[in-house]
Amino acid sequence: MASPLRVGLAGLGTVGASVVKLLVANRDAVATRAGRPIHLARVASRTPKPDVDLGGATFNTDLASLGAADVDVVVELIGGDGAARTLVETALQAGKHVVTANKALLAACGDDLFAAAGRQGLSIGFEASVAGGIPIVNALRTGLASNRIDALAGIVNGTSNYILTAMEEDGCSFGEALARAQQLGYAEADPTFDVEGIDAAQKLAVLAALAFDTRIAFDGVATEGIANVDIEDIRHARELGFSIKHLAIARLREGGVEARVHPALVPESLLIAKVSGVMNAVMAHGDAVGPTLFIGPGAGGMPTASAVVADLVELARGTLATPKQASRQLASSGVGSVICPHYLKIPAIDKAGVFAEVADVLSRHKISIEAVIQRPPSSSATSVHIVILTNDIAEREIETTLAELGGLAGVCGPITRIRVADLDAMMPSA
Ligand code: HSE
Repeated sequence: MASPLRVGLAGLGTVGASVVKLLVANRDAVATRAGRPIHLARVASRTPKPDVDLGGATFNTDLASLGAADVDVVVELIGGDGAARTLVETALQAGKHVVTANKALLAACGDDLFAAAGRQGLSIGFEASVAGGIPIVNALRTGLASNRIDALAGIVNGTSNYILTAMEEDGCSFGEALARAQQLGYAEADPTFDVEGIDAAQKLAVLAALAFDTRIAFDGVATEGIANVDIEDIRHARELGFSIKHLAIARLREGGVEARVHPALVPESLLIAKVSGVMNAVMAHGDAVGPTLFIGPGAGGMPTASAVVADLVELARGTLATPKQASRQLASSGVGSVICPHYLKIPAIDKAGVFAEVADVLSRHKISIEAVIQRPPSSSATSVHIVILTNDIAEREIETTLAELGGLAGVCGPITRIRVADLDAMMPSA
């Protein structure tokens, strides 16, 4: 057998420890598929983890030392774009390939890193940076290479999906569900990245750049998280025939890209509505293949390790390429061009005429009411929630309508607005 691929691993968190475990557990199968052994030579982590069996690899607490170590590839599993960036740059300068799970790093400076790797004839693998164990990077770059991709949509943050599912299925509070996700090792070090949609926006930027062969600035992705979705919204949505999911959507539009992440009501008839817990799903629509849907675990140690080791296998085989510099830079239109139905939850004083005032505002904006839910107030309450499902509304129209509704004397609190996913035409049904 050919000489081993020597690996230096930085970071022994949930994913790093799982990579070590997987390389040991599946050593023979991995070597057979790679055509040569994959040898974990060095491991660096700021904090030693005596309980992780490193299988004989040399250990060091100096992360930066890996850049100069005697290895062929540095696997960066530190996260963030500080020490991780320094390590990746040093490793490339020293002629080492890089494998990373770090979407924050790629979203911030992926183009520069790819260019640096390209100049040196080196590869950067990043399968693990998006959608955990789903081989979506490989699918876009290889399996769908003959297609012009015009739309991507999916669930790409496992923590958010886990929280929404736990609220829907177990009646958990948001806080309880988040604590569970953290215990299971799904959440980012800073979970606000998950629940505020930042992690999903970074992943969408990485995927859309690949799919549309363009540079996508991460801050051009319109970003909303799940923190404002409450259990009542989930129950109302269900009553109306929808599930609430946190979606990432990117579409080619005239002269640009519409890129956005936000919670959305998804019709229960779509397969993606059934993707629950930590599972992720990515739909890619190509002109030749039509709609494709990839489903799998989107976070967690072993699923993410599966993607990291897949890159190492490709590298060992000599088939891991680095993306070329994007051929174009498309402007991002965020949510500006979106037209979709909306779910509105309007806190209102319980007295005669308030519903009529709400309906009047909607009518003046030519918004049609498709469904309404209103329950009688509890014995002590003086207000109710008016829940309305609308027809299609353009983004600008809903903004002015919400401002007007908020100014009504009978409306007594912030209005919740959640878009209804406009995916029916491109998504497979259940
Ligand atoms: N925190 C991420 C998620 C996992 O919940 O999807 C790594 O990308």
